[in-house]
Amino acid sequence: MERGNFGSKIGAVLASAGSAVGLGNIWRFPTECGSNGGAAFILIYLMCVFFLAMPVMVAEFVIGRSSHSNVVGSYRVLAPGKPWVVSGFMGVLAGFLVLSYYSVVAGWTLDYTCESLVGNLMSGSDFGQHFNDFVSSPWRPALFLTVFLLLTHYVVATGVEKGIERYSKIMMPLLLLIIFVLAAFSLTMPNAMEGLRFLLTPDFSKVTKDVVISAMGQAFFSLSVGMGTLATYASYFNKETRLFSSAVGVCTIDTLVAVSAGFIIFPAVFSVGVSADSGPGLVFITLPYVFQEAFGGVPVLEYIFSGLFYVLLLLAALTSSISMHEICTAYIHETFKLSRPKAATIVTALCLLMGIACSLSFGLWKEVTVMGKGFFDLFDFITAKFLMPLGGLLICTFVGWDMNKKLVAQELDSRFTPLLMVLFSWVAPIGIGIIFIYGLISG
Ligand code: PFF
Repeated sequence: MERGNFGSKIGAVLASAGSAVGLGNIWRFPTECGSNGGAAFILIYLMCVFFLAMPVMVAEFVIGRSSHSNVVGSYRVLAPGKPWVVSGFMGVLAGFLVLSYYSVVAGWTLDYTCESLVGNLMSGSDFGQHFNDFVSSPWRPALFLTVFLLLTHYVVATGVEKGIERYSKIMMPLLLLIIFVLAAFSLTMPNAMEGLRFLLTPDFSKVTKDVVISAMGQAFFSLSVGMGTLATYASYFNKETRLFSSAVGVCTIDTLVAVSAGFIIFPAVFSVGVSADSGPGLVFITLPYVFQEAFGGVPVLEYIFSGLFYVLLLLAALTSSISMHEICTAYIHETFKLSRPKAATIVTALCLLMGIACSLSFGLWKEVTVMGKGFFDLFDFITAKFLMPLGGLLICTFVGWDMNKKLVAQELDSRFTPLLMVLFSWVAPIGIGIIFIYGLISG
């Protein structure tokens, strides 16, 4: 079967960075940072990125590019008959589960984008009430979730070069530009320095074992590693793409965007004097309020700032959801020899059903729980606490210990290969293993 390919190196890096940069950077990172000690969290986060998540990313690149196959097929090519293939199935399952609940928040983002563009989020609303009424209603979130999934579907069904690469090349630079404009806006607000100080002064008294677990979870989620997303993308890389430097590029872009999101949110939040650790509602309740307070006197500015912000969030969500969809689509397309659009339709339909179940867990199905959790929290729990770290552990261990050393060295083709081998074989598996087990024990 003819396989797609990214036509250029920059396309490959932008698509991978598009997968990494998402709601996790703009919605989750500032919240985690706010409640876990500001700069102290950032320092631990950076260590998790460098020693744990980045090695998994490089290992995924090695697996994908050397096998030229989807995440399940790659283990069948590289280690036929061995049980590593389980890690591939875990990746496909994780792709389905994350995409299902991620699309719910992405659907909220789409709704807020439309509302801010028609001026509905302008001064005068009770934003807490507005948000709660919206997420607990059965129809509206489901409708926006459906539209969002159809957008994702369209890009994936269009193909690797004409769909994923082409749209990443348009959306990523646009996203970086919007971030830059918004951060500049935010930093010039009165009292902005307070917010910067909060972001940049470490408070080590807040650092506990739980903060380390959160930092690793955030690093994995934010860099899209541990599920085989990047292995799938790397299977479309050409021979000239340098794996290590591409990974460094993706990690750098992702971290810069996360920290810049902090530069947008905290100066604005401090400027109007609201709490910095107000949980996931930060983006949908606190920020509209911040926009209103900050620009209440000049509606045009409020309109521009909030409109740009939600467009930014939407673009980020879309480039990430495309990559999750692609893990599942590539698997079905290649394994069952279905056409790409047909495989993508199966993925979209299944995710739509599971996504609606997640969405209803905020309202009508609030009482429906498994292990004490609604579907949304359950899918988040299974993937973030279990499938992603375990997947990362297996991926590194496979490349460090079982994969043909010559092939790994040939794929890496870097003077850092010996260092990377130590990271794959020892540092990452041991570090991830300890944090993973502690996370499971502490619930
Ligand atoms: N990295 C994405 C974010 O930060 O929002 C989320 C994500 C995408 C996780 C793709 C996992 C994945 F496979």
